[in-house]
Amino acid sequence: MPAARLTALAQALGWPAGPLAAESPGSFWLPPAGSTAAAGVDWLFYFILYVSALFFVLIVGLMVVFVVLYRRRPGVAPAPSPSHNTALELLWSAVPAVIVAFIFYQGFTGYLDMRTAPRNAYEVEVVARKWSWLFRYRNGVTHQELHVPVGQPVRLVMRSEDVIHSLFAPALRVKADLVPGRYTSTWFEGTKPGEYGLYCAEYCGTQHSEMLSKVVVHVPGGFEGWLEEEADVLQRLPPAEAGEHLYARKYGCAQCHSTDGSRGNGPTFKGLLGSDRRFTNAPPLAVDENNVHEYVRESLRDPRAKIVEGFQPIMQRYDSMSDDEISALAEFIKTLK
Ligand code: CUA
Repeated sequence: MPAARLTALAQALGWPAGPLAAESPGSFWLPPAGSTAAAGVDWLFYFILYVSALFFVLIVGLMVVFVVLYRRRPGVAPAPSPSHNTALELLWSAVPAVIVAFIFYQGFTGYLDMRTAPRNAYEVEVVARKWSWLFRYRNGVTHQELHVPVGQPVRLVMRSEDVIHSLFAPALRVKADLVPGRYTSTWFEGTKPGEYGLYCAEYCGTQHSEMLSKVVVHVPGGFEGWLEEEADVLQRLPPAEAGEHLYARKYGCAQCHSTDGSRGNGPTFKGLLGSDRRFTNAPPLAVDENNVHEYVRESLRDPRAKIVEGFQPIMQRYDSMSDDEISALAEFIKTLK
């Protein structure tokens, strides 16, 4: 094979990606790298992959060769086989032991590095619940998406409000469980501005596969601007527009409540104003201008107070929503005729 094609093949397989390489371009096996952790993680991944492939081919190949070579043949008596070979046995014990010890050392030190955040890390609080993500920033801004500055270590302090979830951002090589009743943490440093997928990697119920978000790594200066913009969304936009922002981006109501009449985990917001609500545990309610704010407010503060017929009581309380935000959301819902 010509050298150029060999190099292309090696690159497609992710090689060369050494501990010294700044970042890997991605391959069949791994997505393009977007964090400082990627070089070490990728290098160890490929090392284990190729060592395993090598031994697989070696062992299975020899097995096949021996089966053919030493098969039983008519007229040939089986030769007495040796029962013991000290040198060989030492070799096949020592070589794998050294390789496994090396992999353990690399894996363990790599794990410690990925669990120990640098002192200057920017802290973001993460709350997972069925089935959405909430990221809370230092200035009090909360959002459905994880926004971070490029070239800055970010520490995630995480908890779950219900069951075990797992935050997984493949491009950043970040994956860590969120466990109810305890805080867990992880950290990363984005190296390339852009948007990356963020998933839940622990089966957490029927909508587990829709527990999606994204990580936005901002260009220098972009993150601060974004934070300020988010902080005064209520001041910047008219109530109904601010409410739409809260619905779609900040609180992720869109995950369960549609605005086009289609059925989700929760009832659609379309036509809520002017509808006759029937509940399994409360008298019916004709929703009008006078009570829509109160109804929306109660649904957020005490979701079990009125369960709409035909739906499960799975909504969680949204205590972190301010009264102004609830008003804005109600104004938005009023526009959905
Ligand atoms: Cu949360 Cu799966």
